[in-house]
Amino acid sequence: MLGDKFQVLGGAHLRGDVSVSGAKNSVLKLMAAALLAPGKTELTNVPHIADVEIMAELLTRLGCTLTLDFERETILIDVPEKLEHRADYDLVRKLRASINVLGPLVARLGKAEVALPGGDAIGSRGLDYHIKGLVELGAKVRNEHGYIIAEAHDGLNGAEIVLDFPSVGATENIMSAAVLATGRTILDNAAREPDVVDLGQFLIAMGADIQGLGTPTITIHGVSSLKPTKHATIPDRIVVGTWAFAAVTTVGDITIHRCNPSHLEVPLEKLVSAGALITTTEDGIRVRMERRPKAIDISTLPYPGFPTDLQPFVITMNAIAEGDGIVTENVFESRFVFVNELLRLGAQVRVDGHHAATRGIANLSSAPVIATDIRAGAGLVIAALVADGLSIIEGAEHVDRGYPYFAEQLSALGADVKRIK
Ligand code: UD1
Repeated sequence: MLGDKFQVLGGAHLRGDVSVSGAKNSVLKLMAAALLAPGKTELTNVPHIADVEIMAELLTRLGCTLTLDFERETILIDVPEKLEHRADYDLVRKLRASINVLGPLVARLGKAEVALPGGDAIGSRGLDYHIKGLVELGAKVRNEHGYIIAEAHDGLNGAEIVLDFPSVGATENIMSAAVLATGRTILDNAAREPDVVDLGQFLIAMGADIQGLGTPTITIHGVSSLKPTKHATIPDRIVVGTWAFAAVTTVGDITIHRCNPSHLEVPLEKLVSAGALITTTEDGIRVRMERRPKAIDISTLPYPGFPTDLQPFVITMNAIAEGDGIVTENVFESRFVFVNELLRLGAQVRVDGHHAATRGIANLSSAPVIATDIRAGAGLVIAALVADGLSIIEGAEHVDRGYPYFAEQLSALGADVKRIK
């Protein structure tokens, strides 16, 4: 809830087991793509996070009937024949992934109006690649009164589209529109993230014809209609990475269940170079640390490179590691905002353009700090775990957007973490 805070006592060594649910960045896109097929779609392995509820509200306003059962980690989406075509600003501003309804709506209805999400705490985040792709598929797109209005009353036509940058959101929107276009679409320099592959596989199960998922060139042959299906969301690789960095930073030992380590090869290799002992288990991995970590250098890049969403956890680990580390952020322009909060905890970090250089110190020093986005929030909680004394992290609602039962899971790992009003 808005106004909630985490109260964290430092000095923890996180030990025990955690279970990871479905990926936020997958499930939101699956929900949006369900709009492509009238009838009942069932999604499983759905995480209990605030963003899923916002997307559910958006789909309800578009005319769908949703049944959310977080205990069974399942959502049923009943999509009507006749949908509304407008996604309002009050929801889009809360959930940037709302933009993912643009492709499905214009493909199915020939018209979509989606509010522009505006900037957020990690950068300006344009939509030009999404729009360029839809225009190349034959949509007429204009920007009016804070809304993107896309129209293709005679349907979309396949096209050859090259992205300037392998944007995750643009790849997803273009792919979700091209599946119902007439003819063949070739999308080059496409994003290769596991979330994109998950969405593609969901679309294939609905009857779409897609080749090349997980490669830079995705080829789509349009079909005239899609049918609803049942699909399990992939595990959240960013949550897995968060627990892995938390284990190493707190010199702990965490067994992470229900995860797919092949989605995290680069981050796990980096943790090994920091000194982590990582073994695979039946349904996941065990991450153990027996000594203070060694600082690492990383550069964020599109998948399979080091994910930008794990960058705050590297800076946090480097802050208490042995030696100096450099983090280079290549994906989002303002992703170092949270470093100012880390400085309040005594970290020695210098930001210069898109580099953050850290000089490791043995312990951080507790203080009140403010979370500005999901990952920064979780990073600050981990930083507070390696500070001396009691820290308060304001902005728990950001963390709720991506981490189901975060405080409860940390407590189960032996941390003294409370949620306070
Ligand atoms: C998604 C993830 C986010 C992750 C990011 C990169 C979701 C809900 N969010 O965000 O957690 O950090 O991928 O892995 O899935 N860009 C443009 N024009 C565009 C589109 C993107 O300039 O039309 C720029 C962005 O500003 C950014 C970069 O491209 O600098 C990458 O953005 P993108 O891959 O699209 O990220 P998202 O899909 O927004």
